[in-house]
Amino acid sequence: MSLLQIRGVSKAFGSLIAVNNVTLDIEPGELRAVIGPNGAGKTTFFNLITGFFPPTSGQILLDGKDITRATAVERIRMGMARTFQITQIFPELTTRENIQIAAETAMGFRLRTWLSRAERAAVSSRIEETLVAARLTEQADRLVGELSHGDQRSAEIAMALALKPRILLLDEPTAGMGEQETFQVAGLIRRLHKHTGYTIMLVEHDMRVVFNLADRIVVLTEGTMLAEGTPREIADNPAVQAAYLGTAE
Ligand SMILES: Nc1ncnc2c1ncn2[C@@H]1O[C@H](COP(=O)(O)OP(=O)(O)O)[C@@H](O)[C@H]1O
Ligand SMILES: [Mg+2]
Repeated sequence: MSLLQIRGVSKAFGSLIAVNNVTLDIEPGELRAVIGPNGAGKTTFFNLITGFFPPTSGQILLDGKDITRATAVERIRMGMARTFQITQIFPELTTRENIQIAAETAMGFRLRTWLSRAERAAVSSRIEETLVAARLTEQADRLVGELSHGDQRSAEIAMALALKPRILLLDEPTAGMGEQETFQVAGLIRRLHKHTGYTIMLVEHDMRVVFNLADRIVVLTEGTMLAEGTPREIADNPAVQAAYLGTAE
């Protein structure tokens, strides 16, 4: 069964239809890129999947279970984690402290004033494991605000990983980054996908990153799914070339 099923999902903001009748299945372990020009509805699509607001119509299923009306917090508990187009992290805390917040939240300890020795050990091992996965062990005790842009983004992805998600949604993880940092973040995403087997949905504007990483690509234009397929199929699709890739060159 598909991990995530999106069935005829739409979202209207007044008279603007930001996402228009999109149907899509995400298989376990796949890396799916969502591309399209600015304002195409990519972030709105992620907001619908992660439960920021309900769709105007349509259905979303995780593991066959209808989550269309589940809240964002409920979806996090069910295994959805996301990062945002604008980095959301606590710059005045260390990398480890940021990951600790996510780990404690994921393990249901965040609002507890007292943890047992075993619980503290479980949080510590989750933190260390996450630092290793994101290659941030050397940056663990540095303030996030003092890290490079690439390491900050890795730390933000690490906060999502500390939730041990079943699906990870990344909204423009290389936005505003230079060559070197884009390479670093793309490398982290590749490792998470290839080595750890994470299921990932990725909104990305850098076409080299998209065509290198994605198993399949969805193209949105004006909220509508223009095309869907392998990188090869998308590159060869005349409608995509005309509507999007041609203008991006
Ligand atoms: N909360 C909102 N209220 C009203 N309009 C919105 C809202 N969020 C997005 N939009 C509009 O929906 C369209 C799609 O936006 P967005 O999903 O951010 O596109 P993308 O991420 O592809 O650049 C845009 O026209 C945007 O102005
Ligand atoms: Mg966006």
